[in-house]
Amino acid sequence: MSLDKLMENIEKHGWFVWDDFLSAEQVSELRQCIPSEWKQAKIGRRDDTHQDTRRRTDKIHWMNATMGAPVQDYLDRMAAIQTMMNQRFFMGLFEYESHFSKYEEGDFYEKHYDSFQGSSNRRLTTVFYLNEEWTPEHGGILKLYDQHDHRLAEIEPIAGRLVVFLSEEFPHEVCVSQQERYSIAGWFRVNGVKDGVVDIAQ
Ligand code: OGA
Ligand code: MN
Repeated sequence: MSLDKLMENIEKHGWFVWDDFLSAEQVSELRQCIPSEWKQAKIGRRDDTHQDTRRRTDKIHWMNATMGAPVQDYLDRMAAIQTMMNQRFFMGLFEYESHFSKYEEGDFYEKHYDSFQGSSNRRLTTVFYLNEEWTPEHGGILKLYDQHDHRLAEIEPIAGRLVVFLSEEFPHEVCVSQQERYSIAGWFRVNGVKDGVVDIAQ
């Protein structure tokens, strides 16, 4: 598996599941960086965020490079993807934002888009999984749909797996998890303009 394969699939289908993106050892190093403090995730962005635990019940912790070398390494890998996407598809990806997510038993995230065409600057979504002993009974499946609501894939959140898709084109949901479930969700953004001002901060 390689960056080329990722590019090919994004170009052809708009989404890709990259298994063994990181080795078992790298996953276990990254797991050491899983934070102990969490915030209830919110819906919406900017001033328009609100908690809505009918729609999502996961908890999040925003990532930054000071969280340890494995996190820095992960962010470096994302930067490599960003560079490649910009070179190949002129996507104009400008920055990457990401958070750890924790789903406890019973947690879920209803079907949603990560961004709506024209109204957000999130263009490409990544989700990486950190769950070392996942079995089908644990639930927590990521279901990916197309814009006509046809189901494209049911993706188990298994360790080392990276999912990448165009943020504006694929509704998706996280089914109820029966087990503690960890992932890293991230978004490459373009530099937007809002109210005549360049919009570089969320
Ligand atoms: C998200 C999301 C998917 C997952 O955080 O927006 O869709 O499988 N996460 O954790
Ligand atoms: Mn999402």
